[in-house]
Amino acid sequence: MSESLVVIGSQWGDEGKGKITDYFACRADMVVRYQGGNNAGHTVVFDGHKYSLQSIPSGIFNPKTVNVMANGMVVNPVSVIEELERLHKQGITDYQLFISSRAAMVMPWHSAFDGAYEALKGGKLIGTTKKGIGPAYSDKYSRTGLRIGDLLEPEYFAERLQAALAEKNPQLEMLGLPTYDFQAVYDQYMEIAKVIGPMITDTSLLIDSYLRQEDKKVLFEGAQGMMLCIDHGTYPYVTSSTPSASSVPVGAGISPKWVKNVLGVAKAYCTRVGEGPFPTELFDERAHEIRERGHEYGTVTGRPRRVGWFDAVVARYTSRLAGIDWWALMLFDVLSGLDKIMICTGYECDGEILQAPPSTIATLARCKPVLIEMDGWKEDITGCRSFDELPEAAKAYVRKIEEITETPVGMISVGPDRKQTITIAEELKKF
Ligand code: IMP
Repeated sequence: MSESLVVIGSQWGDEGKGKITDYFACRADMVVRYQGGNNAGHTVVFDGHKYSLQSIPSGIFNPKTVNVMANGMVVNPVSVIEELERLHKQGITDYQLFISSRAAMVMPWHSAFDGAYEALKGGKLIGTTKKGIGPAYSDKYSRTGLRIGDLLEPEYFAERLQAALAEKNPQLEMLGLPTYDFQAVYDQYMEIAKVIGPMITDTSLLIDSYLRQEDKKVLFEGAQGMMLCIDHGTYPYVTSSTPSASSVPVGAGISPKWVKNVLGVAKAYCTRVGEGPFPTELFDERAHEIRERGHEYGTVTGRPRRVGWFDAVVARYTSRLAGIDWWALMLFDVLSGLDKIMICTGYECDGEILQAPPSTIATLARCKPVLIEMDGWKEDITGCRSFDELPEAAKAYVRKIEEITETPVGMISVGPDRKQTITIAEELKKF
């Protein structure tokens, strides 16, 4: 039987999933992205080179790995082509990439609407990436969207495009935005079809065939993070999909019985980009120090990320919701040098201690973190390759996180390079 592993972000995105999926992609036969789109920003570093991915799965660097952009994604074909061109320039030319014929397609008007809707919110911005992700998912659920497979059937594509423009052009006009000419879009997308056409297939069948084979390793790569989940995140300051392991079956088109082994990627502290309450947020010099040391600037938008302490309320919540088997504790080296490190164990709100995040951000905004203080360490840990080599205070911090979140730490990352990874869990060593 195949082995499968789901890697998900467990905070507000940017936890370092790119590095972890790349780490496993070296050994995986298949890497599948199952939600989100080019709003994700994965940075992968190896052999001294830095690569940035938005919608393409992290297995793209290994010529033997089959990469799948599955039906749960919203795929912008223009951006896929641009990403591939960037990779070509960096010498990545030998790869296998397939895109689901059922994936929703991000069209040029989606990013126009994304920007306009944000502007209409006045001061209460969501702080989206403006890649058109929300409008593309909205059209999917309104059943007016186009899908990637439509590109392979020109007459049907023309019909769908005509219907979409009949609805979108008047809306664009009302917002004072440029409208789209049917023929121009049609011609552009027929050119696009020539490039990505050979990649389009029924990826549900492809993934299933891998899962059924002996000795195949299949990696499901989540994008964003659980607190940006449309259902369980800090709504409305969320993305438009479900980054949890729970969305793997629907988003990849497979049976839920294949979902096992969930690795929750968590920073050793917390960050978030965009707006929304963030109970453990730091505003002093320590935030600046962590931001600079961790290069905490958005890979898609370049925005400085907000920084806070590790939030065990969030971690317990996401572990429970997504069935996280282990944490991959990321950017652990960034904490070196701090005198004291805090962990949030609960929220104090209206005289009560909450053990799980409240459902509204109005209540969350009133939550004050209940913090415990841990000793910091001064040593440089970027060269550590086993748990035993870590300073005692660093080990105590890891043990405390395991205890409070009731979830073991299976991996620790002590630097951006593939080699700077400590794998603790035996199951993960075998994948
Ligand atoms: P959207 O996904 O572009 O609609 O943005 C909605 C919210 O999700 C915003 O706060 C974004 O900053 C955030 N977001 C989307 N993708 C990512 C990601 O990959 N990392 C971190 N935040 C993200």
